[in-house]
Amino acid sequence: MRFSNRTNWNTEESDLARAHRLRREAGLPIADLTASNPTRCRFTYPTDLLSALTGLAALDYDPQPRGQLAARQAVCAYYTAHGAALEPSQIILTTSTSEAYSFLFRLLCDPGGEILTLRPGYPLFDFLATLDDARLKPAPLAYDHGWQIDIAELRRSITPETRAIVVVHPNNPTGHFIKPWEAAELARLCREFDLSLIVDEVFLDYSFDQAPSSFASGLDGVSVFVVSGLSKIAGLPQMKAAWIVATGPEHAHALARLEVIADTFLSMNAPVQCALPAWLNSRAGIQNQILSRVKENLAELDRQLTRLPAAERLKVEGGWYAVLRNPALQPDEQTVLTLLDRGVWVHPGYFFSMPESGWLVISLLTPVTEFRSGVTLLVNGLGTDQPGNKSAV
Ligand SMILES: Cc1ncc(COP(=O)(O)O)c(C=O)c1O
Repeated sequence: MRFSNRTNWNTEESDLARAHRLRREAGLPIADLTASNPTRCRFTYPTDLLSALTGLAALDYDPQPRGQLAARQAVCAYYTAHGAALEPSQIILTTSTSEAYSFLFRLLCDPGGEILTLRPGYPLFDFLATLDDARLKPAPLAYDHGWQIDIAELRRSITPETRAIVVVHPNNPTGHFIKPWEAAELARLCREFDLSLIVDEVFLDYSFDQAPSSFASGLDGVSVFVVSGLSKIAGLPQMKAAWIVATGPEHAHALARLEVIADTFLSMNAPVQCALPAWLNSRAGIQNQILSRVKENLAELDRQLTRLPAAERLKVEGGWYAVLRNPALQPDEQTVLTLLDRGVWVHPGYFFSMPESGWLVISLLTPVTEFRSGVTLLVNGLGTDQPGNKSAV
C-alpha cells in the first residue's frame, strides 16, 4: 500500500510512554501531575446531566450545516455574558475545537499555506496543520516577569504564504492572557499583511483574577475567528460540542464558505445539539469546582516549592497548568524519567515546544491529595539533583 506523506508519522512508543506503561503494568503507584481530563479528576457532575439528551426533538433529522438555531442561540447567550453581542448566524457548530481548527485551516490555506502559532503552546496544532496541508510556523513567547508575545519575531515570521495567526487566550500551558497592547499589535499585523486571527478561548473562563474579555467582540478591521467548546467550558470533552465564531469585515463571506465545509461533513449529531443549551447554562457548577481546585493546587505547589529555591514557578494568569523552571542539569526527558522512578509523572517542556531543557509542566487539575503527594515527590526528586539542596529528600 502507498500512504500519503502527510501520515508519515513516527508512531513508535516513546521512551517516556514506555517507562510510564511499564510502571503502570507493574502495579507501581504514579501520582499523575499531567491530568487533563476533567471527567477523571473527581469532580461532581449533576446526576441528571444525560437527561438533556433524551429530548424527542432529536428524533427529527433536520440537517443544518451551521448547527441547530437553539444551540447557536445558547452560544450567543454565553458570549453576551462575556460582553460580546453576536448573531446566531455568526456561529458554526463543530464536534470539537480540533475540528473547528481544521475547518479554518481549510478555509484559509491552500497546500503550503502558513499559519503562525506561539511557542510554547498546545502540541496538537502540528498534527492538525499537517492533516490539512498547512505549514505551522512557531514564533516565541518571551518570559520576563510574565509571558508576552515577541511581536518583532512574529512580524519576521510572516511571508507571502502566511494566512493566519493563532493565539490561545489564555495559552496552554503558560496560562498567559493576551493583553490589550498585544491585541492591538496583533490587529496591526493582521491589517498590514491581510491575515486572519484565530483565537482559541477554551480556557477563557478559568481566569485567576478578573474576568478577561473575549475576542468575540472583534478587532477593528480584522477577520477574527474565535474557537471554543464544551470540553473545557462545561468540563465535558466526551460530548463533542464546540464552535467557531466569525467576526470582522468579511465575516459573511467566510461564514458562507465555512457553511459549505460544514455541510460536506454534517458531523454534529442531533441529541448533542439539543442538549447543548442545558449543558452550557449549567457550566457554573463545574467551573467553580475546577477553579477552586486549580487555585488550591497552585497554592500547594508554591508552599512546597519554598523547599526548592533554585526552581521558579512561572507567573500564571489562568488555565489548568503551571510551568516550572528548574536548572537544566540534564535533558528534560531524563528528569521526567527520574521523577517517574520516584512515582510522579509530569510533562517535559519539549512536549509543549519549550526550546531548551529546564522546564516542566504540571497539571493543576489533579485531585488535591494526589497532587500534594505528587508535588512532594517532585520537590524531593528535583532537590536531590540540585547543588545545595541535598537535604530536600
Ligand atoms: C488550547 C486547547 N485548544 C483546544 C483543545 C481541545 O479541545 P476539544 O476537546 O474541543 O478539541 C485543547 C485540549 O486540551 C486545548 O488545550
